[in-house]
Amino acid sequence: MTHLPVQGFSKLSKQEKIDWIVKEYLDDNKDFEKILKSYLNENADLQKLHEEFSENTLTNFYMPYGIAPNFLIDGKIMAIPMVVEESSVVAAASKAAKFWMEKGGFKTTIINTQKLGHTHFIFDAEPHKIKHFFNFNLKKKLMEATDAITSNMRKRGGGILDIKLIDKTSEMENYYQLKASFNTVDSMGANFINSCLEQFGKTLKDEVQKEESFSQVEKDSLQIVMNILSNYTPDCIVRAEVSCKIEDLKDDSGISNEDFAKKFKQAIRIAEIEPYRATTHNKGIMNGVDAVVIATGNDFRATASCAHAYASKSGSYSSLTHCTIDNGIFRFWIDLPISVGVVGGLTNLHPLVKFSLALLGKPSAQELMSILAVSGLAQNFGALRSLITTGIQKGHMKMHLLNILNQMGATEEEKAHFVNYFKDKTVTHHEVISEFEKLRNV
Ligand code: MEV
Repeated sequence: MTHLPVQGFSKLSKQEKIDWIVKEYLDDNKDFEKILKSYLNENADLQKLHEEFSENTLTNFYMPYGIAPNFLIDGKIMAIPMVVEESSVVAAASKAAKFWMEKGGFKTTIINTQKLGHTHFIFDAEPHKIKHFFNFNLKKKLMEATDAITSNMRKRGGGILDIKLIDKTSEMENYYQLKASFNTVDSMGANFINSCLEQFGKTLKDEVQKEESFSQVEKDSLQIVMNILSNYTPDCIVRAEVSCKIEDLKDDSGISNEDFAKKFKQAIRIAEIEPYRATTHNKGIMNGVDAVVIATGNDFRATASCAHAYASKSGSYSSLTHCTIDNGIFRFWIDLPISVGVVGGLTNLHPLVKFSLALLGKPSAQELMSILAVSGLAQNFGALRSLITTGIQKGHMKMHLLNILNQMGATEEEKAHFVNYFKDKTVTHHEVISEFEKLRNV
């Protein structure tokens, strides 16, 4: 079926938008209208707040908000908020947290906190003249021109750290960059960085026009292509790690401590050398990271793309976590590049984000980086622990059981029957259906 285009959709009221969508795309089935409306919040102020985060909002889309308690991070016990729709993620985090709590917990180190952005430009002028102009004139002018924009950030201890001219002409004709590094303190800093960069673009244009060493033809060749932050922040990085004696690596699946350590290290090595495995391995890490990124109102698309770019830094996509076994000590760690904020953006607006940050003890951006890296490491530990022992389906399907039963419309008594039935059996979709049919005599 083809649909009619719509003019001025954004100007319609919410009811008009719903009416149009349901009529045009859903055969005017009023059940769909009811679904949309049933997810609206009765608190009109709260509803309005949510609607204004984005555009053309019809309703809300709920995700479960859970807590993984018992994380010991740098000597402090924490309960970590996680927003995730996938079963087993919160349970795996909680289990890994408890496991490491008894062994001294997670230790973290902030390795660096630099954010980056670029003015990308085309300039057909003598390279040595461009370099001389940048070093002796432009860099100072760029700093001065952004004085007003950076003033507040400088008061908070941040600002522009450095600006470099990068010659990319060997990769693309006449292509250069102004590559700037920033300290954005407790904010993620996207708006701050982009405002500075847009000013760089303007100043570059003005200063080139004024520069006497360039010919008019050279001046006219300057083209500012774009000014934009980079979500790749390899110098905004945190390490989280755990370690213990092999003899303390007790697992309840029956495998010996030595075999557990050996298999675990092999599993990490496979993810280090095999991109097919690394993709799934890192996806599991991001299950933990992104759930906390969302709960704290940060941008999970940015954190995911940064992590995956970093995982490819050697030229081949690889594991974000690593493991060693030396002198009887098992050590497992992650180096996670991640740019997040605890002020600005949704952090001051979304009530649940405020709750998450309060729950975490109002962390600084650096403390939040540590919590995120720990969440990723814990998640990876949980996944690998299952994979090298029982397999993931045992735990995963147990968690998934309720989803299957809900899909089949099971009653509370039926659900209780199934939880008991699968207490010591592996859940499979097929087994649930056949037991369900027996129970209902179909
Ligand atoms: C599932 O969401 C994540 C895992 O596949 C991760 C992994 O395989 O390491 C369990």
